[in-house]
Amino acid sequence: MNRHQRTRLLYFIGFLLIFSLPLAFAWHSAAADDEDAELVAKMFPPDGPKIPLGLVPIIYPPDNPYSAEKAELGWLLFFDKRLSIDGTVSCASCHAPEHAFSNGEAVATGVRGQKGTRNSPTVINRAYSVEQFWDGRAATLEEQVKGPIANPIEMANTHENVVKTLSAIPGYRQRFKKVFGKDSIDIDDVAKAIATFERTVLSGNSPYDRYKNGDKDALTESQKAGMEIFFSNEARCDSCHEGINFTNGMFANIGVGMDKPNPDLGRYNVTKREQDKGAFKTPTLREIARTGPYMHDGSMKTLEEVVEHYNKGGIKNPWLHQNVRPLKLTDEQKKNLVDFLKALSGEGWQHIRAPKNFPK
Ligand code: HEC
Ligand code: HEC
Repeated sequence: MNRHQRTRLLYFIGFLLIFSLPLAFAWHSAAADDEDAELVAKMFPPDGPKIPLGLVPIIYPPDNPYSAEKAELGWLLFFDKRLSIDGTVSCASCHAPEHAFSNGEAVATGVRGQKGTRNSPTVINRAYSVEQFWDGRAATLEEQVKGPIANPIEMANTHENVVKTLSAIPGYRQRFKKVFGKDSIDIDDVAKAIATFERTVLSGNSPYDRYKNGDKDALTESQKAGMEIFFSNEARCDSCHEGINFTNGMFANIGVGMDKPNPDLGRYNVTKREQDKGAFKTPTLREIARTGPYMHDGSMKTLEEVVEHYNKGGIKNPWLHQNVRPLKLTDEQKKNLVDFLKALSGEGWQHIRAPKNFPK
């Protein structure tokens, strides 16, 4: 090979490298899209989410039935920060998959770092309850969605502006048209899509469910002892945390925050009924080991603190529920109860990931 040929060969190799790079990138992102399509199909099957052991089939509202495309659209919206006024906060900022759809903070932080006064509850198993929020002020999941979008310390946007933003994104216009069959986007359809996605976020098939289904080894001895206490006539945890989702959907005052100078009066703010003062919605206990800190104000960091709260009979106040009273549990029994609560961690939500790409 003479000098001339060598130079030509080097040019040729350089040429190949330069032109193959973009090709390699194109191939890579095509592969990522394929992976997404497969993932999406798994997350949103045509006939609805797979119902884990221990839960029951979901009853969809007549005006908002399930479809895979609608759930997928809701999934994109749930994770899309463009729904907030400055593009910094999405629903998932406060309801994150890595925190079992809560956020690990005592109270929520919205746009521009503003702190609220209430803890972000998990959106897991919302399909099984009607009233939403700690005080039940939203009558349906669809209605709930519209709250945080316009809440000045959460996403601080307006419904009109969200509709405007989404309408300017061809990818969203196309998806809304396909799902709702209309040429324009409206806020009720945004809410319907997000609510449909939320109804796919489930948790069941926990050690407790498997135990009840006949697998006697699914619970440890300590958890079995804790289960006895939970359902006992003394502790009566299940008088409020009852049924498949460990909540009766009612409101109760268990004393949390009632020792503060200006306590959050919870349900009372909605109903203005004296007996609702300091009452909050009984939350689900599914995935409880993963959704701390606890209570409407995030004031308890651990399950041990929660059990201690009940053991001492809550915090005294004129509206304290009669089923919250001193329990006189031994240290061993307190540990049993905490261990039982840990047996309520299951599955049905772990497969849900943030989208890699958003509509453009
Ligand atoms: C800045 C944090 C933040 C953002 C953003 C946010 N949430 Fe929330 N979410 C909360 C807090 C705090 C509560 C409880 C508020 C209350 O009860 O007053 C809540 C309550 C809920 C509930 C009721 C759960 C229950 O058990 O009653 C649902 C469902 C929910 N949010 C879904 C959403 C959706 C959907 C979005 C996006 C449109 C969203 N959230 C955006 C913090 C946030
Ligand atoms: C009278 C009804 C009632 C009884 C009885 C009751 N709870 Fe609760 N529980 C609630 C309410 C209401 C809340 C939320 C209170 C708040 O945030 O102010 C709650 C909150 C909790 C939480 C925190 C949930 C979260 O997501 O922050 C746990 C854990 C819990 N309860 C476990 C128990 C155990 C264990 C028992 C039995 C020792 C029990 N509960 C008995 C009504 C009840």
